[in-house]
Amino acid sequence: MKGGNYTSLGTYSGINAGGNVAVAGKMSLGKSIKMYLTIFILTTCIYMALYQYHISREPFAASEVVKPPLYIITPTYRRPEQLAELTRLGYTLKHVVNLLWLVIEDANKTNPLVGHTLDRIGVPYEYMVAPMPEKYKQTKKAKPRGVSNRNRGLEYLREHATEGVLYFADDDNTYDISIFEQMRYISKVAMWPVGLVTKTGVSSPIIQAGKLVGYYDGWIGGRKYPVDMAGFAVSVKFLKERPNAQMPFKPGYEEDGFLRSLAPLDDAEIELLADECRDILTWHTQTKKNAPAQALNRTRYKNTNLEHIDRLLVRP
Ligand code: UGA
Ligand code: MN
Repeated sequence: MKGGNYTSLGTYSGINAGGNVAVAGKMSLGKSIKMYLTIFILTTCIYMALYQYHISREPFAASEVVKPPLYIITPTYRRPEQLAELTRLGYTLKHVVNLLWLVIEDANKTNPLVGHTLDRIGVPYEYMVAPMPEKYKQTKKAKPRGVSNRNRGLEYLREHATEGVLYFADDDNTYDISIFEQMRYISKVAMWPVGLVTKTGVSSPIIQAGKLVGYYDGWIGGRKYPVDMAGFAVSVKFLKERPNAQMPFKPGYEEDGFLRSLAPLDDAEIELLADECRDILTWHTQTKKNAPAQALNRTRYKNTNLEHIDRLLVRP
């Protein structure tokens, strides 16, 4: 667009100048210089005015439009894979504009290694801690993983956010960035399929004739909303209209409990993303657990790079 205007204006002034050169031949040198200057200044002024007008009328480039903010709540915890997981997720999020990444660690204090990793990635973030209550840590049964972290994230949003959308993104999952652009504009709650969940291979709302008629998941477990954490998003305004909404410390029922706490919510109000749930844009990937790195032999490797690398290893 801009290039086109440059060319046509340039050609126009060229013709003008050429036409006047012939006339100038019969005039005195002084007069012709004056005329040249006048034409030059006039053309420049007209060009500048037209260009200003063009700029003022031009719609914002897509990247300049202020989109509703996305708040991505990511629970994380200390383990050998932690920095690798955060790095992979972080660089996915780096493709998404107007996003605040709330990284919340299940710990009593922050870890500078995590802070450095987040700084290096360069996605706007807040790094907070929210330890799992002791009574759940001690249990031999299933633990409510990431729940205090996510509730801390909700608390942050109630205090700091007014608009936009929140999404719980576990640090180990896989996300196609198009889902972020789709969830940005929802009014209350949206859902979509998540791959690699249970024996069905996918957990998804069931849609018939454009309507939500049920849920497909290898484990229903009496849940009203048998969906995976990676398969729904909630608008911040809607969350704030539900001051008591939070996630229960109930293994297996975290999503269900949280979504129920958003009541009243009509099924017809649940927006269906990812091509009306015909596509898979998020996956519940799981990483192989790595044994903690063995201790470095400090005598043998004294004054080598290994002393530096060793400081980058996250040991439980
Ligand atoms: C599945 C679901 O995808 C989770 O959303 C759900 O919270 C979890 O089950 C559950 O019901 O307990 P899964 O892959 O089995 O997830 O669990 P993890 O990926 O190990 O943990 C979920 C999130 O919590 C991760 O972001 C992880 O970093 C975090 N987490 C895990 C903690 O903060 N503390 C822990 O002790 C364990
Ligand atoms: Mn996981």
